[in-house]
Amino acid sequence: MQKTNPVQTIAWHALTEHKADNLSIPQLFAEDATRFDKYSLRFENELLIDFSKNAINDNTLTLLRQLANECGLESAKNAMFSGKKINRTEDRAVLHVALRNRSNTPISVEGKDVMPEVNAVLAKMNHFCHRVISGEWKGYTGKAITDVINIGIGGSDLGPYMVTEALRPYKNHLNMHFVSNVDGTHIAEVLRKVNPETTLVLVASKTFTTQETMTNALSARKWLLDSAKDESAVAKHFVALSTNAKEVEKFGIDTANMFEFWDWVGGRYSLWSAIGLSIALSIGFKNFEQLLDGAHAMDQHFLSAPIEKNIPTTLALVGIWNNNFLGAESEAILPYDQYMHRFAAYFQQGNMESNGKFVGRDGKAVTHQTGPIIWGEPGTNGQHAFYQLIHQGTKLIPCDFIAPAQTHNPLSDHHNKLLSNFFAQTEALAFGKSKEVVEKEFLDAGKTLEEVAEIVPFKVFTGNKPTNSILVQKITPYSLGALIAMYEHKIFVQGVIFNIYSFDQWGVELGKQLANRILPELENNEEINSHDSSTNGLINQFKAWR
Ligand code: F6P
Repeated sequence: MQKTNPVQTIAWHALTEHKADNLSIPQLFAEDATRFDKYSLRFENELLIDFSKNAINDNTLTLLRQLANECGLESAKNAMFSGKKINRTEDRAVLHVALRNRSNTPISVEGKDVMPEVNAVLAKMNHFCHRVISGEWKGYTGKAITDVINIGIGGSDLGPYMVTEALRPYKNHLNMHFVSNVDGTHIAEVLRKVNPETTLVLVASKTFTTQETMTNALSARKWLLDSAKDESAVAKHFVALSTNAKEVEKFGIDTANMFEFWDWVGGRYSLWSAIGLSIALSIGFKNFEQLLDGAHAMDQHFLSAPIEKNIPTTLALVGIWNNNFLGAESEAILPYDQYMHRFAAYFQQGNMESNGKFVGRDGKAVTHQTGPIIWGEPGTNGQHAFYQLIHQGTKLIPCDFIAPAQTHNPLSDHHNKLLSNFFAQTEALAFGKSKEVVEKEFLDAGKTLEEVAEIVPFKVFTGNKPTNSILVQKITPYSLGALIAMYEHKIFVQGVIFNIYSFDQWGVELGKQLANRILPELENNEEINSHDSSTNGLINQFKAWR
């Protein structure tokens, strides 16, 4: 991977100067009636990505593309797809694209083609799904499985949970449950609802050492054995999704019940691997394959479409314009689809764990902003909660609005109402409402200007707020796969340009280490004074109150 400081590129300097043009979205639309045609892209007959409601013009895009070229985007892409160890700080390849490489062309890591192993695990998942879904797989009393609990956290939870929710219309009879938090409430509430005789537990952990997951898995194991009273029941009710066969065995899960993946799959990019077993169980293996197909099609587009037509690259570049030149600190992801209610949470990890870094690939602190804060909730709920600040607050918040043209629940006029809000919001954010329009409304309603003078400023919307609109024909396994891959590659492109390593996550380690140091201190009632005064004070009050 090239180690170019983006701030020192010719394009970055030119973009900094170009910022002084102060582009205004309403003005750009007034000047060019073809703006939508110029600044929207389509992916097959599945996705329409409209990025015209951003403060950009041809010059902005040309310079942003030049920036990508100067930062070595093409060679970085080729390095990732060809299995080079681009995750330098962990000395690993980054090959989630191999997990969905449906064309099956060889992809090598250290001279070894990974595709035969990928295909073998997929075949094992297929067989297992068939046995569980058909009822052939039996619990310890000979009954078929009715409930599946996925125990995992971070990438071993967010992806599977988000996708099973987003694809609920494709779901079969199996009841899916997801337990992530080490707060005992999470597992206790789920175990209360299910029957050990008919419950399958998937212990999903890349490392198989994550404290939360192992604690929950042990509690689930105890719950099973309290009822089965026979160790052999574990093999009928527990499977492991992991890269760590040794730890799986130590835990007491037969490695025959293990679905393997590899160190070149990052946790937050792992839903395409064995970590996706809960997805495949929930919607059936054929639909899981469709998800992979959609992602693969997006991978091919990302790899081969020219930069002007490249959807993930364009979204990444527009994001950089907003983040690094216009000063936006966060990005909202707003799906107008209730089934997609975990989509923003999923990409909160995807983006923030990938690009939340301050050290550049040259080992020095960067002087530019890196990844944005990602947040969001489904529309229209968000409209009645936090959109006020997006419309009239003092912060610039670029938003991605995502909506399906076809609903899975065509109920009277619900969908038209939902979509009318989807269209209205980006229009309102871009074009706002001027003082003159507000005044005219009052006058038309029979008020005098004197009567309303005081209230007018509060009713003005400045507009010029950037948004992308992503219209999906219908949320299917295929289109969802493409949509997820699109965002994954957007993150990749931004990481390349930010000159950071997007595929490690050292920033989560310190908290883990300190928690491990504190845990034994909580096991007695002695007063603690080994920390700073705040931490000591909090621990001691906890001990007094518990
Ligand atoms: O704490 C961060 C993290 O390492 C994530 O990157 C990962 O998705 C999560 O923990 C879970 O890790 P594992 O799958 O190894 O249990």
